[in-house]
Amino acid sequence: MKDLNKVLSEKEYLEDLGRISKEKKIPVINYEVGRFIEAIVFVKKPKNILEIGCGEGYSSYFLVKNLKEAAFTGIDLNNERLCKAKKFINLNFPKINANFYHGNALKLIPELKLKFDLVFIDAAKYEYPDYIDVIMEKLNDEALIIADNIFYGEKIFARYIKNHDKNSVKGIKRFMKLIQNKEIFDTKFIDIGDGISLSIYRSKTK
Ligand SMILES: C[S@@+](CC[C@H](N)C(=O)[O-])C[C@H]1O[C@@H](n2cnc3c(N)ncnc32)[C@H](O)[C@@H]1O
Repeated sequence: MKDLNKVLSEKEYLEDLGRISKEKKIPVINYEVGRFIEAIVFVKKPKNILEIGCGEGYSSYFLVKNLKEAAFTGIDLNNERLCKAKKFINLNFPKINANFYHGNALKLIPELKLKFDLVFIDAAKYEYPDYIDVIMEKLNDEALIIADNIFYGEKIFARYIKNHDKNSVKGIKRFMKLIQNKEIFDTKFIDIGDGISLSIYRSKTK
């Protein structure tokens, strides 16, 4: 019962945070997507997690919640958001080994010494295929890649795309093609939130 009460008060806390962020026009993952990620981490037990586009740390919360002796790396281009993410995660999970890097993920990732078991992608949609390029050398076998906003507000299915969405839609479509290469990935698209993709990396087939 105590645990159930904890779940309910946490739900209120997280849903409030998500709502406040959206009101402030700060994009965050959908609450259910967060819970999905949290469950995946619990089952997969990754040793190293990378988040591309951690923003103010809302999604990072779900990624690190079930980590014990593992490490989390969060990257964001926006330093103000990144500093908030660092504070938020350190406050909620003081014992977690979490590292936050400010900068362009496309430049920072090739410099990282670590290999990852789980990568969560939630940065610029037009760059999604480029993130795949840079993480390929950084994946352990059977690593999971989860990407958010795969349906991009259903625009991915639309015939007419407004000019300012064209690059993002093009990026997501190219990304989808890459992760559907069956020789390298085993991929499922999941209809929660704005759509997510879940891919398992198979290095042994290379
Ligand atoms: C959708 S928001 C992330 C929201 C966050 N995952 C959450 O749910 O709380 C996208 C973030 O990606 C960052 N971003 C965009 N392009 C990036 C890049 N090339 N490298 C690192 N971060 C990037 C933006 O600064 C922004 O904070």
